[in-house]
Amino acid sequence: MLPVVATAGPGDGLAGTKHDFSNLGGGSGVVRCAVCHTPHQAQTQQLLWNRAENGNTYSWSDPKTIGGTDYPTFTATYQGASAKCLSCHDGSVAVGDVGWWNGGPVISSGTKITGANQIATTTGDMTGNHPVAMPFPWNGVASSYNGSTTGAEALHSGWQGDPESLGIVLFTDDGAGNISKGATLGQTGIECTSCHDPHNGSEVQDVFLLRGLLGSNSADYLCAKCHAK
Ligand code: HEC
Ligand code: HEC
Ligand code: HEC
Ligand code: HEC
Repeated sequence: MLPVVATAGPGDGLAGTKHDFSNLGGGSGVVRCAVCHTPHQAQTQQLLWNRAENGNTYSWSDPKTIGGTDYPTFTATYQGASAKCLSCHDGSVAVGDVGWWNGGPVISSGTKITGANQIATTTGDMTGNHPVAMPFPWNGVASSYNGSTTGAEALHSGWQGDPESLGIVLFTDDGAGNISKGATLGQTGIECTSCHDPHNGSEVQDVFLLRGLLGSNSADYLCAKCHAK
């Protein structure tokens, strides 16, 4: 079952968004958070992730961006949030297919995401989507992140020095595969959650759970929060 009509406004919190899964499990509300997180029996320690295993490998058809940065290849075990989003948004696993809640497995089959909200193909092809799980040249310095390093030409593009001050979330790869929130010189990257907040928290400014405006000439315009164009 997919969520009912989204009624929450930008920044109003999870309830009433398309990520409000309180109607899963017969409308009892029990899987509201547990469709993604569980306090026990989690699949991964990080984020206490509760999604059924997904065997996909995600990649882009192009080897590099126009700036010369390698597009990465990653699987469901990649720690960055993008792999978590794709555990539903590749349309390969049912939304209700969660691991553990209320003292038992809550595996239910049911609807998979299709149509506009399906971001990768069911076999993991990301072609046509903005880079994610990719380095960001924080403070104008090349970064290495998820096995990819900012290309020399990408440094010549116009960048905001500090997108975090504009409400964007950046991430650090410690070089050993551990991803955490916050920028570090030379080790910074972006994920789906750099642009979207899955919980519709107070930094969300527009529809689609966006951390910036969909259309504007102001500093709040989403694309301009990272690209200085
Ligand atoms: C649709 C999936 C989904 C649902 C539903 C969801 N979360 Fe999350 N949650 C995530 C993802 C993905 C992240 C990682 C966020 C990031 O990378 O910025 C996260 C991060 C978190 C974190 C780590 C700190 C932070 O805020 O980033 C906490 C705590 C958390 N969620 C609690 C909850 C609670 C409590 C609920 C229910 C009220 C909930 N989540 C519902 C997907 C979800
Ligand atoms: C538990 C499965 C699940 C996970 C995990 C998940 N989503 Fe979703 N998401 C959904 C469903 C279901 C919809 C509604 C699909 C539809 O209406 O066709 C949705 C809708 C959306 C929308 C559209 C919102 C709107 O108001 O139209 C965005 C944006 C989105 N998700 C982003 C993300 C991001 C980013 C992540 C990771 C941080 C994520 N999702 C993780 C299930 C999930
Ligand atoms: C660079 C910013 C950015 C990143 C990174 C990003 N998105 Fe989006 N996303 C947007 C914008 C802007 C929209 C609304 C415009 C549109 O429809 O394409 C959107 C729309 C969506 C929608 C609504 C359906 C649609 O296509 O319009 C979903 C679902 C979604 N994103 C999921 C994701 C997931 C999953 C990831 C990571 C794999 C991701 N996004 C990464 C900016 C981003
Ligand atoms: C969170 C920061 C961030 C935001 C917000 C953002 N971008 Fe990007 N964008 C990047 C990064 C990082 C790259 C990869 C640069 C590189 O290393 O080549 C990139 C690359 C691109 C590319 C080049 C892709 C290629 O393969 O050569 C385009 C075009 C682009 N972004 C457009 C957009 C648009 C349009 C928006 C608004 C919807 C947007 N970006 C929002 C960070 C961002």
